[in-house]
Amino acid sequence: SQASLPPEMSKVIEETIGRKDLSYSCVSQELVIGDDAHRVFLRAHTCPCRDDLGETLGSVSVLQDISALKELDKMKSEFIAMVAHELRAPLAAVEQQLMIILNRLAGEVTEKQEELLTRAKERIKGLLDLIKDLLDLSKIEAGRLVQYKEPLTLSEVIRQVLDLMKPEAEAKRIVLQFFALPDVPSIAADREGMEGVFANLISNAIKYTPEGGKVSVTLTEEGGCVKVTVSDTGVGIAKEDLPKIFDRFYRVKTARTRQIVGTGLGLSIVKSILDAHFGSISVESQLEKGTTFSILLPKEPKPFVCQKEES
Ligand SMILES: Nc1ncnc2c1ncn2[C@@H]1O[C@H](COP(=O)(O)OP(=O)(O)OP(=O)(O)O)[C@@H](O)[C@H]1O
Ligand SMILES: [Mg+2]
Repeated sequence: SQASLPPEMSKVIEETIGRKDLSYSCVSQELVIGDDAHRVFLRAHTCPCRDDLGETLGSVSVLQDISALKELDKMKSEFIAMVAHELRAPLAAVEQQLMIILNRLAGEVTEKQEELLTRAKERIKGLLDLIKDLLDLSKIEAGRLVQYKEPLTLSEVIRQVLDLMKPEAEAKRIVLQFFALPDVPSIAADREGMEGVFANLISNAIKYTPEGGKVSVTLTEEGGCVKVTVSDTGVGIAKEDLPKIFDRFYRVKTARTRQIVGTGLGLSIVKSILDAHFGSISVESQLEKGTTFSILLPKEPKPFVCQKEES
């Protein structure tokens, strides 16, 4: 009977029956039933049943037990986290030793040696970045990247991240700017998570902006939300790519971006962290002109999702 159905499923069934448009088809959702001792994961597919005239007669739901798949997925995530974690320490040690050689602390280095070692160091940095992304992802999957919500002053977090990014920007003669309205209230958020959000957005802005460009960050308020924008004067993103850039492993491949290293995980991590804070992210871009990412986060940590106002 409908009374014992999980409420989120009843809602989908009601919506399915109520919808008049013929384009409305199957809805899939994941449900969890049972208690801690015996938890069952279900996938429910709910489809409208229509007669020849397109009139909705009712709905059909198929429930599939996906508990075993969930368990496998968890093992996969734990395995990736373990491998990433074990690879990180030796790679970090190699990076440090290369730094010692490159800084001439272990004797003279010829020009050719310096060139080779510098390239090796860059490749290692790429690997360390990938490992960091994988660890962030597994933390998100385990629900651990937004575990400790505390009152956070975003301007402080953003300044710290900008300080960390300064050398990268200076190397490309990119100007970093930050404008913050005074008295923007603090929000309840996970510090590590928020650092991840801004580090990813600002490092993208620097990465995808040619030499001599500008990256600016603003912090303001909009309605019940705190708003942060990260703008750059970089290569931009084509309209058809915009909806895909938040997908895992998606990277835009053009002549301008081909040489830039990355995994395509950064923005998907940003999106997951913001979701867990009831926040949202939107993007506007113009090819060869630049890109602006806008983030909204609720001032009160209640399950109300900050959404961009339609213009
Ligand atoms: N500021 C930006 N300007 C232009 N393109 C961008 C910008 N930010 C992201 N993109 C595009 O979106 C894609 C996805 O970004 P994302 O941060 O997820 O991955 P990535 O930077 O390629 O790799 P990483 O996992 O190291 O962050 C990028 O490959 C790039 O094509
Ligand atoms: Mg990135």
